Amino acid sequence: MSAQRKDDHVRLAIEQQDTRSGINQFDEVSFVHHALAGIDRPQVSLGTSFAGISWQVPLYINAMTGGTAKTGVINRGLATAARETGVPLASGSVHAYLKDPACADTFSVLRRENPDGFVMANVNATASVADTRRAIDLLEADALQIHVNTAQETAMPEGDRSFGSWVSQIEKITAAVDLPVIVKEVGNGLSRETVLTLRQLGVRVADLGGRGGTDFARIENGRRPLGDYGFLHDWGQSTAACLLDAQDAGLPVLASGGVRHPLDAARALALGASGVGASGVFLRTLLDGGVEALIAQIANWLDQLAALQTMLGARTPAELASKDLLVHGTLRTFCADRDID
Ligand code: FNR
Repeated sequence: MSAQRKDDHVRLAIEQQDTRSGINQFDEVSFVHHALAGIDRPQVSLGTSFAGISWQVPLYINAMTGGTAKTGVINRGLATAARETGVPLASGSVHAYLKDPACADTFSVLRRENPDGFVMANVNATASVADTRRAIDLLEADALQIHVNTAQETAMPEGDRSFGSWVSQIEKITAAVDLPVIVKEVGNGLSRETVLTLRQLGVRVADLGGRGGTDFARIENGRRPLGDYGFLHDWGQSTAACLLDAQDAGLPVLASGGVRHPLDAARALALGASGVGASGVFLRTLLDGGVEALIAQIANWLDQLAALQTMLGARTPAELASKDLLVHGTLRTFCADRDID
């Protein structure tokens, strides 16, 4: 059942890429154009540092898959693209391996194909400390992602219905492992209050994982015979809204969920993200065009992000955060409702 679920996720995520509108709240963020702000391209760097982590580029391939033969092939492609472009990448939930070590290769390929890259291991918030260590060891991981996904679990036919232990388990894992811990949502967003709680728990980074891209409640509802959890579609806050909400929460944030192109990445960095992740868009490119197409897409995104920084006068991704932005429409209403200046 679990193995089938992994293949279902890939199929349904790709179906969403093909059928969803493509509009999201990043469209309500624009840079004020200053015609004389530009700098010289050689002055621009893409490097980013946060929470003791340094990346050469501020873009990463976020958590997706592993556990079946088919998803092992996908992971090989993702790892090859990461190696060739220098982007960090995260594994899919390593839960499948923890339950059945026979599928180890479908995850460890992420490290084998990408021996010098920055690799994040991904577990859920009920993983034991011992299992978390097994996941980290399997991938020789540089950081740990713990995913939180109550809306997905609720819509999932075989999902968890008990969430009360998550806070204490995140605290336990964070205290026990030596690596930086990143807590991530899967597309419903982390609120300011949640980010403040994570900070108190000792978590080093929040990956805001907001609404606007792959919608996991929709994916799980698509797996229900009656499809009767449609009311959870589009649940939560967008990534742009989460970035505004978490501005003064005192924790470095990563932005993922609905990042469609380099301009969205620049917008997210300008809204305070230290790095920007994408999943569904990259998966689609890999499955449609193969690994060469994914390498070309990521290289192009990085080149275009540097071009935007050159035009906007930002020598580093961090400098984008001091550029003038306009926030329009429903995102502006969100700021007013949440008392965000
Ligand atoms: C995911 N995502 C995910 N996240 C996670 O923490 N653990 C996981 O195992 C998975 N599995 C998974 C499978 C597939 C096929 C996709 C497309 C995505 C969620 C992912 O990391 C990300 O948070 C969301 O997909 C939102 O980002 P995009 O797709 O809008 O860029």
